[in-house]
Amino acid sequence: MNLLNRAIVAALPVVPRRLVERIAQRYVAGEALEQALDTVQTLNAEGCKATLDVLGEDVARSEETERTVAEYLRALDGIASRRLDSNISVKLTALGLKIDPEHCRREFARIVGGTQHHGNFVRIDMEDSSVTEVTIRIFEEARERYAGVGLVLQAYLRRSLDDARRAAGLRANVRVCKGIYVEPALIAFQGREEIRDNYSSLVDRLLEEGCFVGIATHDPVLVRRALATIARLRLPREAYEFQMLLGVAGELRRQLVSAGHRLRVYVPYGEAWETYSMRRLKENPAIAGHVVKGLFRRELRLRGRRLQGE
Ligand code: FDA
Repeated sequence: MNLLNRAIVAALPVVPRRLVERIAQRYVAGEALEQALDTVQTLNAEGCKATLDVLGEDVARSEETERTVAEYLRALDGIASRRLDSNISVKLTALGLKIDPEHCRREFARIVGGTQHHGNFVRIDMEDSSVTEVTIRIFEEARERYAGVGLVLQAYLRRSLDDARRAAGLRANVRVCKGIYVEPALIAFQGREEIRDNYSSLVDRLLEEGCFVGIATHDPVLVRRALATIARLRLPREAYEFQMLLGVAGELRRQLVSAGHRLRVYVPYGEAWETYSMRRLKENPAIAGHVVKGLFRRELRLRGRRLQGE
């Protein structure tokens, strides 16, 4: 990490809202559903599928989940009425998982009901390790009733290969990602290469077992390894898809799409965009560097124009 980026990360808590907003424009579709649906439409026109995520996690009171569920149901209606190619991704803590798991189960069941009504698909995002087991259980319960429900496994967790065996028993639809939360060495691999190796083992195991796999990464090494496995197993395009975050790795995304692979873009939207953008920033401070440089360049241009009397 270079000096400027390091300084930016240290200063994150006091980053001006205007700067975060500029960063958010890259990673978040907007605050309103219509903006998110417009983004999905653009992605569809570029040959990408999408998954809509209503921003927000870790609610403090059970009553707060009502709005999130209503928003997901509106999103499912919007996808259907505009005939878009998109499913949805849901965080169970936004449905009250950490306050009351039973309430969360009921709220998730309402979302599954909406998904089923439209013949669509809902994936449960995976959050920090305190909720891994209960998230998998809720997935398994829902999967028994409806096939259009998917799970996420995180390659940094030591337990994930066992969870993959469990998922394979259900022929589950699994997204594999590296994992974004900070977890202790006791339960999580810490080294870049061991996380990569576990990632590839998970993808290989799940594909070999006939699971549909969402290969969620922007890491070219992992994409290359996954492509080698897909070729070795002679898998048809319908057996897997690549997945990437909105605003990240555009070039790799275009390469995969033009080579004929399915690719789904994760499209977050909603009022909680600030927290999400800060997380993306901490994850990749190089982006902050570009944004700051961009901002300065813009300021300089504006000043130059003012001096020229424009
Ligand atoms: P890595 O972090 O090594 O990135 C590879 C390269 O991609 C970087 O060198 C950089 O060029 C680029 N890049 C990566 N992140 C970037 C960023 N934020 N901004 C700009 N460039 C960036 N995690 C989780 O714990 N639970 C979940 O449910 C999900 N869900 C999910 C869905 C989808 C579709 C994706 C793509 C990712 C997730 N994640 C997640 C996040 C995931 O765990 C991981 O933190 C990020 O994808 C970054 O890991 P990479 O595999 O991309 O590798």
